Amino acid sequence: MENINSSYSHLPSIWAQIWRILSATRDSPAHHWYTAALSTVANGRPQSRTVVLRMVDIQQLLLTCHTDIRAKKVSELENSPAVQWLFWDPVEKTQLRIDAKATIHHQNQLAEEEWARLSPLTKGNMSASLVPGSPVDSAEAGIAAYHRSKSISPEQDRTWFEHFAVIETRVQHLEWLWLSREGHRRASFECAGAELKMAWLVP
Ligand SMILES: Cc1cc2nc3c(=O)[nH]c(=O)nc-3n(C[C@H](O)[C@H](O)[C@H](O)COP(=O)(O)O)c2cc1C
Repeated sequence: MENINSSYSHLPSIWAQIWRILSATRDSPAHHWYTAALSTVANGRPQSRTVVLRMVDIQQLLLTCHTDIRAKKVSELENSPAVQWLFWDPVEKTQLRIDAKATIHHQNQLAEEEWARLSPLTKGNMSASLVPGSPVDSAEAGIAAYHRSKSISPEQDRTWFEHFAVIETRVQHLEWLWLSREGHRRASFECAGAELKMAWLVP
């Protein structure tokens, strides 16, 4: 987090700062919170993977990432929409653990808007003809179409868009942990209801 100062004693300031930094992270690959671990639950077991934080809506407390609609995480979310995000900034020594509820957007307006702002390379992540995670005979056999041609035709754009999904998650609880030589600090922000409930925790 920017400027270690007295605001770390004031819960509303910490809350505001977290969301300001998350928002600034969008489209900033150098930022440590640009990627995060996103965990789902499948048959009672946790499933974690790295994703890119694509959108942040401070008003509605939304965090969003993109995926292939055929990815395992999508069917896991259809069965159980609970997710947990885990962010770590090793420079500012700040961890965020965020519980949220996911909604999948596929071939709707939000998906169109997000697709429109992607680079051809990123669109290429949706160009695999086989379902992600399928076994293949060699490493080369798993390379997606875009990486073979390095181009995208209008027809491919539409086909690959059919594979594209937006995972929009509504934050319900956020836990902040800041490591410091002067003593760690930990806080809880409950935001599932209409009212934001903030509390300090023993780190
Ligand atoms: C740095 C990094 C960023 C990634 N970003 C995404 C992403 O935004 N969306 C995504 O679906 N997979 C992303 N992946 C791949 C996932 O971690 C994961 O391997 C893949 O989505 C399959 O997960 P699943 O089988 O649990 O659905 C990323 C991987 C890395 C290493």
